[in-house]
Amino acid sequence: MVTTRDIRERAADEPITMLTAYDAPTAAVVDDVGIDIVLVGDSMGNAVLGHDSTLPVTLEEVRSRTGAVARATDDALVVADMPFLSFGVDEAESVENAGRMLKEADADAVKLESGAHTVELTRRLTELGIPVMAHLGLTPQHVNETGGYQRQGTDADAAERMLELAREHEDAGAFSLVLEHVPANLAEQITEALEIPTIGIGAGSDTHGQVLVITDVLGLDEWSPPFSKQYADLRGEMAEAIGAYKREVENGEFPAEEHSHVEDDVDDVY
Ligand code: KIV
Repeated sequence: MVTTRDIRERAADEPITMLTAYDAPTAAVVDDVGIDIVLVGDSMGNAVLGHDSTLPVTLEEVRSRTGAVARATDDALVVADMPFLSFGVDEAESVENAGRMLKEADADAVKLESGAHTVELTRRLTELGIPVMAHLGLTPQHVNETGGYQRQGTDADAAERMLELAREHEDAGAFSLVLEHVPANLAEQITEALEIPTIGIGAGSDTHGQVLVITDVLGLDEWSPPFSKQYADLRGEMAEAIGAYKREVENGEFPAEEHSHVEDDVDDVY
């Protein structure tokens, strides 16, 4: 079983692997393959719930899917992503919402899209026994403020501020830090400045680990970001399988004898 402590103490020469999953069968494969961390990301909004951003994702959706992922996972660390406005508005409510992920969905930790507003919350959650993965750089829950999904930390002021926030979250007790869509040389410097591991997505190769969205990896989405890599074409394979089923039903090939059952006693009911 991978624990938050294992991740925090992971040696720099042993890269951390992390993938999102939103359902039990996918999580089971991710876990069997030996991925260290399964993130039940609010990217489910775009990836599987048909929204065009992460903003509509609800606490209940993340809680329910985290439960499914946790039930299918034996070894990997399960991290539940706190959805938009489920944290940061009111401390007591934030603690209660994050706590539900551990108490009701069996998550091992939560991830917060981070900023100045999450430093004290990270401290409080950690004190209470709710481990926090911080997340800086591109934070898609701020899309209406940033005006899009652009690379972050691209000038010296923004880069310094990000480094400062990374340090503040480490001091507050975060056990790891996701860096999304930031220049590789900034991610490298933040990684060097921290004791806790950094996990990059679109942040170059000098972080301690990497994370990708599973539907991008498997080729299930029509679109994926340029920093992602597609390792399969499941969309194509699904279309082939579903097309074959449709053809066989239409031409009477399915169901065949081996898919049917005949009971002699019910021969004469008509
Ligand atoms: O929601 C998500 O999948 C994420 C990862 C991209 C880090 O936050």
